Amino acid sequence: MLSLYPKTLSPSPFNLTSSLIPKKPSISSPSLYVNSTTCCQPNQITERGILFDTGDTFFRHESATGRDLGVLSAALYKQSKGQLRVLDAMCGCGIRSLRYLVESKADFVLANDANESHRRVILDNLAQVERLEGEKKRWVVTHCEANRILTDCYLQRDYFDYIDLDSFGSDSSFFLRAAFSSLKLDGLVYVTSTDGYSSGGHRPFHSLSAFGAYVRPMPYANELGLRILIGGAVREASVLGYRVTPLFSYYSYHGPVFRVLLRMNRGKLPEKRDYGFICYCNRCGNSQAVSWDELGQIRCPCNNSTKDAASLVVSGPLWTGPLHSGAYIMEMLNLAEQWGWVGKDAGTGLEKLLKRMLEESDPRLPFGYIKLDEVASRAQTNTPSISTIMSSLHKVFYFYVLLYSQAFELQLRRKGCVLLLKTVYCLAEYLIQYTQAGDFLQVEEILNDSRNMGMFVSWLKTSNEVTVLFMLQEGYAASRSHIAHNAIKTDCPMAGCIRIAKKIHGC
Ligand SMILES: C[S@@+](CC[C@H](N)C(=O)[O-])C[C@H]1O[C@@H](n2cnc3c(N)ncnc32)[C@H](O)[C@@H]1O
Repeated sequence: MLSLYPKTLSPSPFNLTSSLIPKKPSISSPSLYVNSTTCCQPNQITERGILFDTGDTFFRHESATGRDLGVLSAALYKQSKGQLRVLDAMCGCGIRSLRYLVESKADFVLANDANESHRRVILDNLAQVERLEGEKKRWVVTHCEANRILTDCYLQRDYFDYIDLDSFGSDSSFFLRAAFSSLKLDGLVYVTSTDGYSSGGHRPFHSLSAFGAYVRPMPYANELGLRILIGGAVREASVLGYRVTPLFSYYSYHGPVFRVLLRMNRGKLPEKRDYGFICYCNRCGNSQAVSWDELGQIRCPCNNSTKDAASLVVSGPLWTGPLHSGAYIMEMLNLAEQWGWVGKDAGTGLEKLLKRMLEESDPRLPFGYIKLDEVASRAQTNTPSISTIMSSLHKVFYFYVLLYSQAFELQLRRKGCVLLLKTVYCLAEYLIQYTQAGDFLQVEEILNDSRNMGMFVSWLKTSNEVTVLFMLQEGYAASRSHIAHNAIKTDCPMAGCIRIAKKIHGC
């Protein structure tokens, strides 16, 4: 007897008795509203209060969060556009199709799975929703190879708002072009890959044929899994004159599974941004994005000569832009809250995930993440706690240091930069002891030390030429990663993280 307990699933907010036909006796029983999947018969499962049968189909209860994200995004689409036609191209037992009908309020779902032996299970599951609404069908079940059904729809000009491609391995790359052809403009494709070998850089020629990206082993392999999937989609869409952008990207360790929701519009391949190469230096741990026209000049800041170029690994082309749209994640979070899927008594999984994705949406954050164990090993310290290193990163201030001159001060005063000048005075005493003109210096928490100001002003009187700061930048951007637990996403280079780790440990 199967007994599955997805932690994240809270009771459904949907009026199930009105939207589902109560064919199965337990469908309207109170056990539906229990936050688990207690089963009355083998292979019977409840997810968000919806009871269904998995039969002998491929079903993973661990994918429930991925289905939640799909249902939320499809519901948002329906709310904003007033209509929703879904093509569930690899529906398995039909659970997604059922949830799109019941929870996202899809007007129509085409549930397809190439395996005809799944038909009985899919029909039984979907039979919980009236098939006809007046003259119109709410759902249809087919058993075609995914490319065939997608292409048929395209040829019949039967376009969809939302296409779900929940395929195995890197197969999705094979279906993407047909999916974009049968998608409405501004429509959504929810695409999956489970190809962990490609993201790990273990078969670069396979990733090259599947996603058009030659991938080498890098420390943030699981983020690369998402980025090569998006990059492959960007490339396929551009062939048809479309541009796709990710609304969210979700990695889950079981499988592993990489899922991305893409919005498609007319457009071209991004020329300068978001689609290019990335480079990691095994020697110093630094990562950088490399555009197509910089390919011949890749250098790591740790080494100016080419003789040690072997320490550099390059992967791409792939998506280097943001993994999520912050505004869209916020909408998902609000809807999840309305439905009682997050917040009090709802379990923490989905809420934590969405909030982490929101943090990751900071546009200042580059691709990749830095594992704190790598920082510790390079700094030769214990691994710093994630909260300590994050708050240190947020507090770091940078100052460009220039030669001070009276003309420069006059210039600042004319521009009304009195505050800046005050800061200059406050810090200069400290700065001149440790810096050279033109240095790029890291100073932490000096602003609070008001004693420096007076000291500097008196020192200023006795000197015509002093070193002062020119510009103050904010602290680094830093967030946790939903992909790797003990890692941070940050725009601080590895060298800066090492310095901070050493400081935290008093080295
Ligand atoms: C990962 S399972 C789908 C699981 C389902 N979406 C869920 O959430 O439970 C993939 C399904 O795709 C079907 N499939 C595999 N290759 C296919 C193809 N080329 N065309 C259509 N269906 C395919 C398999 O029979 C399998 O049921």
